[in-house]
Amino acid sequence: GTTLGGAAARTGRYFGTAVSASKLSDSVYTGILSREFSMITPENEMKIDATEPNQGQFSYTNADRIVAQAKSQGAQVRGHTLAWHSQQPGWMQGMEGSALRTAMLNHVTQVATHYRGQLYSWDVVNEAFADGSSGARRDSNLQRTGNDWIEAAFRAARAADPGAKLCYNDYNTDDWGQAKTQAVYRMVQDFESRGVPIDCVGFQSHFNSNSPVPSNYQTTLQNFASLGVDVQITELDIEGSGTAQANSFSTVTKACVAVARCNGMTVWGIRDTDSWRASATPLLFDGSGNKKAAYTAVLDALNGG
Ligand code: G3I
Repeated sequence: GTTLGGAAARTGRYFGTAVSASKLSDSVYTGILSREFSMITPENEMKIDATEPNQGQFSYTNADRIVAQAKSQGAQVRGHTLAWHSQQPGWMQGMEGSALRTAMLNHVTQVATHYRGQLYSWDVVNEAFADGSSGARRDSNLQRTGNDWIEAAFRAARAADPGAKLCYNDYNTDDWGQAKTQAVYRMVQDFESRGVPIDCVGFQSHFNSNSPVPSNYQTTLQNFASLGVDVQITELDIEGSGTAQANSFSTVTKACVAVARCNGMTVWGIRDTDSWRASATPLLFDGSGNKKAAYTAVLDALNGG
């Protein structure tokens, strides 16, 4: 393949990127987007604060523009994200207990119903586990509604859109030895054993010098896949430049290609200047839209090189 999406398709995989609706009028951006990518994740437009800014009033304009862009270029969409402790609208931040549980489930149902049949997958729940050595759930208003809030969200999403793959998505879950990785693994194992609907686990994979690609990354992907779920790299970006950065991107890509149920990967933006951490120059295209060494490394790895 001569493009990321084309090369990934050789082995039945997709290659995606995060997209901002505000950049869809930039022809350099949309040129690379439509040429290279077969999957799109709205970077912010499907989050709770964007889709339900006032309780019971839903707003889909920007998210729908991204879905339309995807359709126009023959790409699929990963919905991101239905339930999260962050980027909650003000009305939700102030809620707790059964009122919050009801509001959260209504949000999941309404948004998943709006996009029923149109999305490849949903990140149903994002970042629900704590960092560090505890292996505990992250404290949040959603967690305080009861430990079953995650499975309740997954059941509501399945009921609303039975065709979408339902994913749990998190960061710092790449190193098999980390307590957070083990905790998420046990949750997925528990969901599988009890029939809670879960189809995939997303590994955000935001890497930097303090948190490089772990040597056991492929092992982690394989161990989760062996539970009977798809695994996906969902928000990949790697701080750095030149050969070192290219080598890290190659390692990640080869890990996915080596795991049968790693069925796709997504980078968290197109050009370095589009990144949420632009100073890390963590993406595959420079600010002018030129391919970086990291791009070539990913393409070669997808092509089996
Ligand atoms: O659009 C407004 C703009 O009108 C306003 O002037 C400006 C002032 O701050 O804010 C703009 O919104 C910002 C938005 O990005 C768009 O640029 C928000 O403040 C800012 O919080 C938001 O950051 C996003 C972040 O999630 C929020 O948590 C990033 O773009 C987005 O890349 C990032 O993505 C997350 C994933 O969803 C989950 N995993 C981690 C990842 C990186 O943090």
